[in-house]
Amino acid sequence: MLELIDVHTYYGNIQALKGISIHVEPGEVVTLIGSNGAGKTTTLRTIQGLLRPRQGKILFEGQDLSSSSSPEIVRLGIAQSPEGRMIFPRMTVLENLEMGAFHRQDKAGIQADMERVFTLFPRLQERIKQKGGTLSGGEQQMLAIARALMARPRLLLLDEPSMGLAPMLVNQIFSIIHEISDQGTTILLVEQNARMALTVANRGYVLQTGEIVLTGSAKELQVNETVRKAYLGEE
Ligand SMILES: Nc1ncnc2c1ncn2[C@@H]1O[C@H](COP(=O)(O)OP(=O)(O)OP(=O)(O)O)[C@@H](O)[C@H]1O
Ligand SMILES: [Mg+2]
Repeated sequence: MLELIDVHTYYGNIQALKGISIHVEPGEVVTLIGSNGAGKTTTLRTIQGLLRPRQGKILFEGQDLSSSSSPEIVRLGIAQSPEGRMIFPRMTVLENLEMGAFHRQDKAGIQADMERVFTLFPRLQERIKQKGGTLSGGEQQMLAIARALMARPRLLLLDEPSMGLAPMLVNQIFSIIHEISDQGTTILLVEQNARMALTVANRGYVLQTGEIVLTGSAKELQVNETVRKAYLGEE
């Protein structure tokens, strides 16, 4: 479904991605784990067309994304819940969700997706008229994911959905990620919380200073010594 081939991304002269190759198959949950500054967000922003690779290629369902704008990439079927949520604080929950569907004309489909997200996140329906900025951190995270789902993506990119949330909410967010996957959406999940990410993912990649240093099934990574020491906090 998605293939990154030797992708190099820079911020000016700073090279953030040093030739990464990853792939995501239809129906999978794939996680990208790594510590601060490893290049996880840069990878998602490059897929979404917000950053351009200086070298390498990104293919989505066989199509080269290098000349597609970010809104075009959303239309092709990739949507993102960004790091730090980035919801619109002065807009209501409903308006935030409508923004997620800004490129769509199919009113009936939008309505159906609105109902789908309210089933996944009943809390958002209760808060439908409330301004985004007045929601709790957990609710804002739910709104960011729900807004991405309103684009009806076939591939959902999630950047640190558990960041800053209390353990109970982290569990809740991960069970919703599981449910979204069961409903047929393919997911690329970026996390510092490797333990949780590996419980929901089929496969994973470990990113370290802009390079993929390890890949395997979630089960393999869970028992890998390097992963256990560096990312699962074990001795
Ligand atoms: N706007 C920017 N300008 C310059 N350098 C940047 C910019 N954004 C990120 N970087 C650098 O690129 C590298 C990768 O950053 P990135 O945000 O992708 O990491 P990350 O894995 O998402 O980290 P975190 O876990 O902190 O979110 C880091 O060295 C970072 O300092
Ligand atoms: Mg990041």
